[in-house]
Amino acid sequence: MTTPLLNVSGLDKRYAVPVLRGVDFQVHPGRVHALVGANGAGKSTLCRIISGVTAFDEGEMQADGAVYRPTSVRDGEGADIRMVMQEPHLIDNLNIAENLFFSDMPTRFGMVDYPRLYEQAQVALDGMSLNDLDPRQKVGSLGIGQRQLIEIAKVLTKPCKVLILDEPTAALTDPQIDILFEKISTLRAAGVGVIYVSHRISEFKRIADEITVLRNGKSSQPQLVSDLSSAQIVQMMAGTASADPGSSRVASRGRAVLKIRDVCAGGLLQNIDLDIYAGEVLGIAGLIGSGRTELLRAIFGADKIDSGYLNLGDDETKVAFSSPQEAVEHGVGLIPEDRVREGLLLTESINNNVTINSIQKFGGRFGIIDKDQEHSATESYREALSIDCIDIGQSVAELSGGNQQKVVIARWLLKDCGILLFDEPTRGIDIQTREAIYELLYRLAAAGKAIVVVSSETRELTSICDRIVVLSNGRLAADFNKDEWSAEKIMAASFSAYTDNAA
Ligand SMILES: Nc1ncnc2c1ncn2[C@@H]1O[C@H](COP(=O)(O)OP(=O)(O)O)[C@@H](O)[C@H]1O
Ligand SMILES: [Mg+2]
Repeated sequence: MTTPLLNVSGLDKRYAVPVLRGVDFQVHPGRVHALVGANGAGKSTLCRIISGVTAFDEGEMQADGAVYRPTSVRDGEGADIRMVMQEPHLIDNLNIAENLFFSDMPTRFGMVDYPRLYEQAQVALDGMSLNDLDPRQKVGSLGIGQRQLIEIAKVLTKPCKVLILDEPTAALTDPQIDILFEKISTLRAAGVGVIYVSHRISEFKRIADEITVLRNGKSSQPQLVSDLSSAQIVQMMAGTASADPGSSRVASRGRAVLKIRDVCAGGLLQNIDLDIYAGEVLGIAGLIGSGRTELLRAIFGADKIDSGYLNLGDDETKVAFSSPQEAVEHGVGLIPEDRVREGLLLTESINNNVTINSIQKFGGRFGIIDKDQEHSATESYREALSIDCIDIGQSVAELSGGNQQKVVIARWLLKDCGILLFDEPTRGIDIQTREAIYELLYRLAAAGKAIVVVSSETRELTSICDRIVVLSNGRLAADFNKDEWSAEKIMAASFSAYTDNAA
């Protein structure tokens, strides 16, 4: 065999817990290597290490036979190893050409040589079968799929021996996926090695030569994709992990407080039917892009429902909230994943952040806010949630991520919503604080609230939920009670809408 373009051996990386443990991985010239695994398996982490974005702890890498130990993206690029990030990083108010050559504009007499820039940009666009786009067009006016293709074209304006694509098709339409695959074929024919991260089995069966599976931090032996059926691949990702017995608490399910009927939204969610019960912790599992966040947002009125409706409790009136405010008025709260962007006012105090949506509760006569009452309410939540701070006047920006999350939760508790939707409530939160948040979810459920939790970590869901539904490509693929699920079944359901039937 020829020298691999990239050789990774015995790679270790730990964050709060070990993420990669002794990972081996090779990329060969003119081959597409699929890197797959469940959510959180460490695929993106491995890609970021290879491209130089993230440092690793132990192990060795060689690029083209030479020792490769990148400490920055620049090092990666120096070795012609390039990565297309999961999220496009384009600048909206620059045009396509300026974005494509942002770090490397052609100049003439110290000024940007626009005629040459547009010429080069046209070549780059042609190379991506985007000939119908005008390089002068602002990037902000483009659709998400087009932006993704431009991002790839941008990376390919530089020399490239190893190209890393991390879930590149999540935002692409089918014709755009065809364009990308054609490009990958061209690169492969030119001897480029491609690392292709995806959970869409039908896709990487089309495009990849080899496959390596990450599971529990370890890498599988590489295998030829053509040797494996879809079912075998799912099996390799899920392993034979035994079912998590879950928490020992006994939930007492009350009546259905929210019925979701035939809901379609955002071009992704298809005919969702789901009942949500008081007193239960309901988990929503699914892969990235399966529609988990979209479902929460559609319920909450943050995104429009295209068809279908909701029923509140036994009331048969068909409703769809047209705004989050309306949802809140009906007792539905959403604690978003991006707490900072969607939830918190960082420069404001803990107190103001907790009471901001409920301030009318403290309005005494003549509409004057009863400050003492307001403070004692915040104080009681600070204590109940063990928010770690100097005092409730401290600004939220000074708190750790876990404590910021608690502040958002306190805000919603004060609102007294009967239905609370949590999107990735423990992401980026340390283990101790996680336990505190779980305890809190149980307490809320025990108090008769309906708790819905989206999480990328199947283990988290199996350990805290009473019921788990699985979304796959916008559809409800499974509904498991506590005694019915296993990691394997959840995984199989997650992949079900992405797998072709040809096993
Ligand atoms: N910057 C980070 N800080 C702390 N933990 C992280 C960071 N990036 C990733 N992780 C953790 O590492 C694990 C692997 O994440 P990731 O590589 O994104 O997985 P994948 O791409 O396979 O879904 C997850 O448990 C994730 O929470
Ligand atoms: Mg990832």
